[in-house]
Amino acid sequence: MIDPFGREISYLRVSVTDRCDFRCVYCMSEHMTFLPRAELLTLEELERLCAAFIRKGVKRLRITGGEPLVRRNVMWLLERLGARLGGGLDELTLTTNGSQLARFAQALFAAGVRRVNVSLDTQDAAKFRAITRWGDLSKVMVGIDAAQAAGLSVKINTVALRDVNELEIPGMLEWAHGRGMDLTLIETMPLGDIEQDRAEQYLPLSLVRARLAQRYTLEESDHRTGGPARYVRVAETGGRLGFITPLTHNFCESCNRVRVTCTGTLFMCLGQNDSADLRAALRASKDDGLLDAAIDEGIARKPKGHDFVIDRRRQAPALMRHMSLTGG
Ligand code: 5AD
Ligand code: SF4
Repeated sequence: MIDPFGREISYLRVSVTDRCDFRCVYCMSEHMTFLPRAELLTLEELERLCAAFIRKGVKRLRITGGEPLVRRNVMWLLERLGARLGGGLDELTLTTNGSQLARFAQALFAAGVRRVNVSLDTQDAAKFRAITRWGDLSKVMVGIDAAQAAGLSVKINTVALRDVNELEIPGMLEWAHGRGMDLTLIETMPLGDIEQDRAEQYLPLSLVRARLAQRYTLEESDHRTGGPARYVRVAETGGRLGFITPLTHNFCESCNRVRVTCTGTLFMCLGQNDSADLRAALRASKDDGLLDAAIDEGIARKPKGHDFVIDRRRQAPALMRHMSLTGG
């Protein structure tokens, strides 16, 4: 799949549910309404959809949510997708909040998953509760232990939040690198109504990086994943540190990815509203011809770059859909 700007699409992120057992303050409002279950693709439909993308050249698949591990029987899907590793698919990964990892780590490894991203913004239990509203830090910590014990390589994703976790970042870095985990810092993105002021949460990573550079030697790294993260190597810890600054455009030109929501809507760009309905094509016929055509038609509309609004004083989000719909 080659888009109109010559970019090869080889990476697909699939959200399997919009539900989550947390209510992170930058992600959701406290009183979220979730999609009615009938709107969701069945696990069989999700598999058919992924198979179509793999046939078309997707090599790496990331399963996201909401929280993917709260979807009932999600392991059935992961096992079916894992069976395609080596037969067109190179990598199957998961982004999770870690709350259910203790239960699923071994099965994930057995299914062929080798890497998971765990979202964790703080190591302070009270702060963790404040950020996630519903989460229990000790469960996530046990989940991370279980993931590593099962042989999964873990990357920690931390959203940088002004006044909330900014002083903790060096500690998080030493902890993650000390356990052999990469750490990636993320700037808040204006996605979805969250009943809070996003300008209050926003902490520019340029500032975080400058502060870290006073304490650590940050060596430029050419490690790239085709995604928006830029990496440095921290000489003192030997670990990798990533920065995701979504409001810059410096990654769009090498973008290799598209996203599908749990209702089968294809988003060609995280920062744009334009989408293509794959569910109608999936349900219209058992034959994959319509589905293939709908995917091609969507890819042909992949935009050159995102349109996140940079003006932080604006209260309204740049895009009305929540991150939990597209899974980051
Ligand atoms: N801005 C930045 N990151 C977000 N995440 C969820 N919502 C937002 C947002 N508005 C993060 C989660 C997780 C990843 C999937 O996206 O913390 O790490
Ligand atoms: Fe759930 Fe992740 Fe959103 Fe937090 S950021 S509410 S863990 S989907």
